[in-house]
Amino acid sequence: MTKLATTPAAHPATASTQRPLATRHLTCVHDLAQHEVHGLLALAARIKRNPAAWSTAFRGMALALAFEKPSLRTRASFEVGFQLMGGSVVFMDQRDSPIGQREALSDWARSMERWFDALVVRTMLHSTVEALTAWSSIPVVNALSNLHHPCQAMADLLTLAERFGSAAIPHVAWVGDGNNVCHSLMEGIATVGGRLTVITPRGLAPSADIVRAVQARCMRTGASIRFTHDLDAVSGASAIYTDTWISMGEADAEPKRAALRPYQVNAALMAKAAPGAAFMHCLPAHRGEEVSDDVIDAPTSVVFDQAENRMHVQCAILLALLRPDLVELPTAFVPSNLSA
Ligand code: CP
Ligand code: NVA
Repeated sequence: MTKLATTPAAHPATASTQRPLATRHLTCVHDLAQHEVHGLLALAARIKRNPAAWSTAFRGMALALAFEKPSLRTRASFEVGFQLMGGSVVFMDQRDSPIGQREALSDWARSMERWFDALVVRTMLHSTVEALTAWSSIPVVNALSNLHHPCQAMADLLTLAERFGSAAIPHVAWVGDGNNVCHSLMEGIATVGGRLTVITPRGLAPSADIVRAVQARCMRTGASIRFTHDLDAVSGASAIYTDTWISMGEADAEPKRAALRPYQVNAALMAKAAPGAAFMHCLPAHRGEEVSDDVIDAPTSVVFDQAENRMHVQCAILLALLRPDLVELPTAFVPSNLSA
């Protein structure tokens, strides 16, 4: 494979010859072991505290973003983060260079790896992410598919740890559609431990396959994930998380909206949670639909911390995948990692 030569920069970080992650790609949170999630969160906290220490880490490297769906946060956070660390980013216009449409997906992937060091993809179908991992010799990072949003979940775990000062996840209640963001949050909490209550209308529960995999992981980590249709289950929650009723690429169906309307996160629902409970949303939000203005704008809302943390966790993920010589992931994410 021919690629632009990269000159690893002299760097203050600890040199390590071992690959910090067992996986070459990030398709979903379950690609990562518990100690890897802890290590990435600790690294993200270090990057957030002192980004200048990493300003040459990606020098001579190029990152491709190929998105089949719109984005604000994901595109901006990958572009800014990679460039702040010295790398170049190309956003591949999907009208001109679509993944696997103008040519076979395998030819697209095998061409891309000749110019780029990693691929960040946002796809309609999760099977496209998996097919790309089969054809790419360079890391593929899932930046949202119909089934998973692992970078979002990593940012959410960091935000929860910052907010509650602990790696132990307090009681989080998911309210609304059992969608991609819900799946990744389930996988994240199943991996690090903690308590999650998933509250959805009938017929909108998370994927049964993902639920099975998550329950198997909970058995190993001691995490507790419960599924219900009863909104009273937010009782005592330290955080309530919701997302759009209609995800990108889905038909906007009135029966689905009607089923979700009683599940709006508003002041009355927040009042049932623990006093001072945090409000979480991956954004973009649809004010007046899944969340009321007063809740998303309340001082307890952490939605913009979640958005900011996307950049720090994604830089940590890319460092672990692309610069194993620079990072040695801590095996435990203890609260002191956040400020150390
Ligand atoms: N949360 C998130 O992925 O936002 P964007 O769709 O704007 O990238
Ligand atoms: N569930 C939403 C998340 C957007 C970041 C979607 O897939 O559109």
